[in-house]
Amino acid sequence: MKHPPKHSPIHSQERIVPATPETISRAADLIGAGKLAAFPTETVYGLGADATNDKAVAAIFAAKQRPEFNPLIVHLADAGAARKIAQFNGLADELAQLFWPGSLTLVLPGKKQSGISPLVSAGLDTIAVRVPRQPVAAAFIRAAGRPIAAPSANLSGTVSPTSADHVASSLGDKVDMILDAGPCPLGLESTVIDLTEDPPALLRPGGLPVEVIIAAIGPLADAGNPETAPKSPGMSERHYATTVSLRLNADKAEPGEALLSFGADAPRRALNLSRRGDLEEAAANLFAMLRMLDNSGVRGIAVMPIPERGLGRAINDRLRRAAQSANRDANQ
Ligand code: TXA
Ligand code: MG
Repeated sequence: MKHPPKHSPIHSQERIVPATPETISRAADLIGAGKLAAFPTETVYGLGADATNDKAVAAIFAAKQRPEFNPLIVHLADAGAARKIAQFNGLADELAQLFWPGSLTLVLPGKKQSGISPLVSAGLDTIAVRVPRQPVAAAFIRAAGRPIAAPSANLSGTVSPTSADHVASSLGDKVDMILDAGPCPLGLESTVIDLTEDPPALLRPGGLPVEVIIAAIGPLADAGNPETAPKSPGMSERHYATTVSLRLNADKAEPGEALLSFGADAPRRALNLSRRGDLEEAAANLFAMLRMLDNSGVRGIAVMPIPERGLGRAINDRLRRAAQSANRDANQ
C-alpha cells in the first residue's frame, strides 16, 4: 500500500478535527502528555503546549523555528489562574476586570516557584498572560487543567493563521492535532500591554483597540517610540512576511501586482478587506486575504490605505511589519 509522503498537505490535513467536547478532551490529553495541539481563539489560532513542561515548550520553539529570545504568552482559564503565575498590581486588576476574557495580554512580573518553564519568558523576569474568550479555547484550557503556552500557530515570521487550514499548511505534521472551529472572528492577535512600566507601555496594538484601553486607564507609552519605550523582545524580528513584495498606501495596482482594497471607492474586481469600510471586517479578512493573494502567482501586492484608528492601527502595524520583512527578503 502507498502512503502519502510525510509532509504532504493531505497528511497534515488529517490532523484537523472539528472541535467537539470529545476532540477538545483529546487535545487536552495530548497537552498532558507533553505534545502540541493547535486551537482556535477569538484572535488567531494558537500552538499550545503545557507551560510547565520544559520539553513541550521547547517543542513550540522548534516547530515554529522561533528565536528562543522571543517569549510566549501563557493562556489561562480565568484571572484567578493568572494571579498564580503573575504579580498583579491595581492596574492589572482593573484591566482584567474590564477586558477578560478577551483579546488583551498583560505583561507583569512573574511569580517565583510558579512552575512555569523559564523558556516561556525567554529568561525575562516578566510573564505575559491572557484569558481568551473563544469558547473552544476556554474549554480546552479548562480541560487541560494547566497553563497553556501558545504563540500564533504559524512558522515564525510568516502570516498568522486565522483558520485550521492555515495552521496545517504552515506547520504540517509538527503539530499533533488541530482543533477546528472555523475562521477566527477578530483575525488579529491580542493587544499586548506592559504593566511593569509607568505609564504602561503598548508593546503590540491588536484586537482590543488602544483607544478603548486609554479611555479606561489613561495614557500609554508607545513601544514604537524609543524615548518612552521599554525593550520589547521580538519587535525587530521578521514579521508577517508574504513571499511576494508588499506596497502600502497604494491607489491602484501596477502591472503584475494584485490590489488588496478597502472601502467603497475601490475597483470592483479587486479583493476587498471591507467594501463598507468596516475595520472589524477588514481585520477579520486581513491575514486570509494576504495569504490568498500571496499564493495567486502575482509579483507583488498593493494595499490601499487603511485609516489609522481603532482596529486600523493594528491592521497598519501588521501591514508595515509585513512590508518591511517581505521587501527585505525580496532584496536579499
Ligand atoms: O492573540 C494572541 O496573542 C495569540 C493567540 C494565540 O493568543 N498569540 C500570539 O502569540 O500572538 P505570539 O507568540 O505570536 O506573540 C506574542 C507576543 C510577542 O510579540 C512576544 O514578544 C510578546 O508577546 N511577549 C510575550 N511575553 C512577553 C514578555 N514577558 N515581555 C514582553 N513581551 C512579551
Ligand atoms: Mg505570532
